[in-house]
Amino acid sequence: MTEVATTVRPFRWFGDDLTGGIEMLDQRRLPGEEIWEPMTTVSQIADGIRDMKTRGAPAIGIAAAFGIAFGVRERGQMDEQMFALLAATRPTAVNLFWALDRMRALGDVGYPALLEEARAIMADDAANNLAMGRLGATLFGTEARILTHCNTGGLATGGYGTALGVIRATHAAGRLAGVWVDETRPYLQGARLTTWELQKDGIDCTLITDSMAAHFMKRGEVDGVIVGTDRVAANGDVANKIGTYGLAVLCKHHGIPFYVAAPISTIDLGTANGDAIDIEQRAASEVTELSGVVIAPDGVHAAHPAFDVTPATLVTAIVTERGIARAPYTESLAQLVRAEP
Ligand code: MRU
Repeated sequence: MTEVATTVRPFRWFGDDLTGGIEMLDQRRLPGEEIWEPMTTVSQIADGIRDMKTRGAPAIGIAAAFGIAFGVRERGQMDEQMFALLAATRPTAVNLFWALDRMRALGDVGYPALLEEARAIMADDAANNLAMGRLGATLFGTEARILTHCNTGGLATGGYGTALGVIRATHAAGRLAGVWVDETRPYLQGARLTTWELQKDGIDCTLITDSMAAHFMKRGEVDGVIVGTDRVAANGDVANKIGTYGLAVLCKHHGIPFYVAAPISTIDLGTANGDAIDIEQRAASEVTELSGVVIAPDGVHAAHPAFDVTPATLVTAIVTERGIARAPYTESLAQLVRAEP
């Protein structure tokens, strides 16, 4: 598997190509335990995505691509059931459907070629993140104090990360003064995963609860916000982890730039605007419990939309591996998607 400039990856290969498979780092157990779960079948991969052993839009797409390769190895040919099984896991990240389309487009060419394609999807994603990092780092001045939400790093991608890749690149350029990491209620991807990744790479960060962002912005201690995304609509509306929209509104109020890092595989020109994006609803227990500890009265109703949509009007720029898009996004995004890689 491709090596990139990060210590953190969501998958690694085990065994030989014929009988081996991927080991998926069970992100639900981090930061306490690093458990690598071997997977060799399409249903194991589908369960891993649905149960959030792996998560993050690009990583979901990569896992699904391996799922199709394994399905063909198991069954001797492609069938609609394996595509349907994977497509039904999580609805919001368009990378899942993008990766399934890419595998389908290759045709029923046999397991070795499909395995090679899954590996290419992962390697391309890591390379795209490095390119996005180089471009995105130019957005920040010296001594940048950057706030981010959720986890968009090596764990969420083929390596390096999208928004966290831009933060890594800013650090590598010697211009990062600090990272504010939102804890990201209720699933705590920021507290559990982003801080863990940054610590591993020796990048200093400060963990805050989501409700502290406004306070630090008002005090002039945030120079910019950068987040990843699960799907960018054709008009530039951005679906991302619940809480992102609130950050964008806060940025507008405080005159702080709000950036989004999105590989081309996350841009969905087939979805006209954010209203058409299917927002995953997750279990209420993820709100009423914290790491298995009940924090609300028995029987209380709780809502858990896993994502929200930030309108394009609040987005300062969208960084892709092919360039930086700015408003009007309908034109700038279409141009980048159609540009030669
Ligand atoms: O529910 P998750 O953890 O899969 O949500 C992940 C996010 O919201 C990320 O910001 C997004 O997928 C971009 S990851 C590079």
